[in-house]
Amino acid sequence: MAAWWQEAVVYQIYPRSFQDTTGDGVGDLPGILSRVDYLSETLGVDAVWLSPFYPSPMEDFGYDVSDYCNVHPMFGTLDDFDRLIDALHARGMRLIVDFVPNHSSDQHPWFLASRSSRDDPKRDWYVWRDGRPDGSPPSNWRAVFGGPAWDFDEVTGQWYLHSFLPQQPDLDWRNPEVEAAMHDALRFWLDRGVDGFRIDVAHFIMKDPEFRDNPLAPALSGEAPFKDMGAYDDQAHVHDKGHPDVLGAFRGIRSVLDEYDDRFSVGEIHEFDPLRWAAYYDQGAGLHMPFNFFLIATPWTADGVRSRVDAVDGAVPSHAWPNHVLGNHDEQRLASRFGPESARAAAVLLLTLRGTPTLYYGDELGMGEVAVPPEQEQDPWGIRVPGMSRDGCRTPMAWDASPNAGFSSTGAATWLPLHDDWRESNVEAELADPASVLNLYRTLLKMRKESAALRLGTYVPLDGVPDGCFAYVRKIDGESVAVLISFSEHEMDVPLHPGTVLVSSGMDRMGEAVGGSVRLRAREALVIS
Ligand code: NOJ
Repeated sequence: MAAWWQEAVVYQIYPRSFQDTTGDGVGDLPGILSRVDYLSETLGVDAVWLSPFYPSPMEDFGYDVSDYCNVHPMFGTLDDFDRLIDALHARGMRLIVDFVPNHSSDQHPWFLASRSSRDDPKRDWYVWRDGRPDGSPPSNWRAVFGGPAWDFDEVTGQWYLHSFLPQQPDLDWRNPEVEAAMHDALRFWLDRGVDGFRIDVAHFIMKDPEFRDNPLAPALSGEAPFKDMGAYDDQAHVHDKGHPDVLGAFRGIRSVLDEYDDRFSVGEIHEFDPLRWAAYYDQGAGLHMPFNFFLIATPWTADGVRSRVDAVDGAVPSHAWPNHVLGNHDEQRLASRFGPESARAAAVLLLTLRGTPTLYYGDELGMGEVAVPPEQEQDPWGIRVPGMSRDGCRTPMAWDASPNAGFSSTGAATWLPLHDDWRESNVEAELADPASVLNLYRTLLKMRKESAALRLGTYVPLDGVPDGCFAYVRKIDGESVAVLISFSEHEMDVPLHPGTVLVSSGMDRMGEAVGGSVRLRAREALVIS
C-alpha cells in the first residue's frame, strides 16, 4: 500500500505572494485559508507546502527564523495556522511546512545569548572559532549569498559561521542540545497536526568537524552543474556541507517523525551526481526523500531530459520513492526558462513521470519571470550578488482582473509587482478558457488521480522514436499509459499502438483516436491510453 506522500501532488505556496487579506501588500495565512477550495477543488492538488511563516526579521524573507514555534504577525497567528490545517485536513489534503535547521536569525534569542559572551551556555549552539594567526577567518569557506562564510564579532573577539547571510548564523548540529531543541521544534508542529517537513538546505547541517579549507576549483566557474553562482563556484564544496555525519542527523529527525503516524520529510539537497544524490535515501532510515532538482538543471532537449530521467530513475534505490521538481521560489520561472509551449509540455512531463511531483504556485497559470526594476529589488542575494535575484519568480498570484489581481486590496502597494499580463493570465480568466494552461494542469491532475499507472506504475522509456521526441510508458497491472513529448520545432510521426489521446498539451486533441503512427506537433506533448 502506497503512502499518502507517494501518491500526492504537492503544491508549494510562497506565503508572501499568494493572497493578502490585510491590505499590506503581503500575503498571509488567512489569505491561504480563503483559497483552500481553489487548491482542493479547482486545481486538485493533494498536499500544500508552505515556505516559512515564522517570526523573522525577514532578511531572507523568513529563512532567517527568530522563533521556531510561532507565526510572524504579518502572516497571522497560531490560531490562523490551526484553522488552515483544519480546513486542509477537512478536504483530505495534507500540510507540509518548511523547517530551517541549518541557521537561525541573528535576532533569535539563542544567538543573542550565544554572541553575548564566550561563557554563555548558548555559546556552543553556534559555530564560533578563532581566526588564523594572520587575522584572517578560520577557513576559506564562502557564503552562498556572497563573501566569506565567517563574520568577526568584536564583542567576544571570535568569528561565527554563516553559510548564507551574516544575519543567518549556522547552528551547530554536533551539539546534542541544539539537536534536541530542533527536535522539539519539529514536535511542536507535529503536535499541531502538520503532515511533513520540507527541510531547508538539509545537507548543510553537518560540516567538516575540523573546518578544513575547501579545495579551489576555478575550472568549475561558469560550468557549474546547476546554476552559475559566481565566486562561490571557485571552490569544490567538500568540507562546508554534506559531511557523511549528516545521515545520522537525518535519522534523528526521522525518529522524531516516526513518533507520529504517517509523517513525511523531504530534504532540499542540491547534489547533481545521481549516485551521490541517491545516497541521501540512506537505507530508508533517514529523510523520506531528497528533492530531485535534476529537471531544473537539465537543458530542455529530448536526449538531455531522457538521459537525466533514466539516470535518476535508475539511481533511486528499490526501497525508495522518486520525486520531480520543475520550479520553486529560488529558480527562474518555468514559463520563462522553456518558453510557453515547452512549459506546457514540461507540465505533462512533471505530472506523468514516476514519483511525487511538486508544483510551484503560479506555474499553473503559465506565469513568467517578472523583470523587477532595481529600485523595487527585495532579494538579499540579488542585492549582494548581481544577477542572482530571485524576486522575479516570487511575484503575487493573480486571481482575477480586478486591481491588484485579487491578490491584495485596490490601491495597496504589493511587495513585488504583478506579472505584466495578469489581466489575461489569472485564475478567473483562465478558468473561462478551455485551452488555458490552468485547464491543462487541472486536466493533468484529474487524469493522474484517476490513473493508478500514472501514480504508481513502472516507468519504461521507449526507443525507436524520432529525434527530438522523448517517449515512455507508465504501466501497472492491466493499465498502461504512453507519454510522447516533442522538444522539436518540427512535426513528427511517432510509431505507436492505436489508442486515444487523454490529454494534449495544447488542450485540443482530447479523445482523438490515434493508430499506428501519431502525428506529434512541434513542442507538443500527448498522453495516450
Ligand atoms: C534555501 C531556500 O530555498 C532559500 O530560499 C533560502 O534563501 C536559503 N535556503 C537559505 O535558507
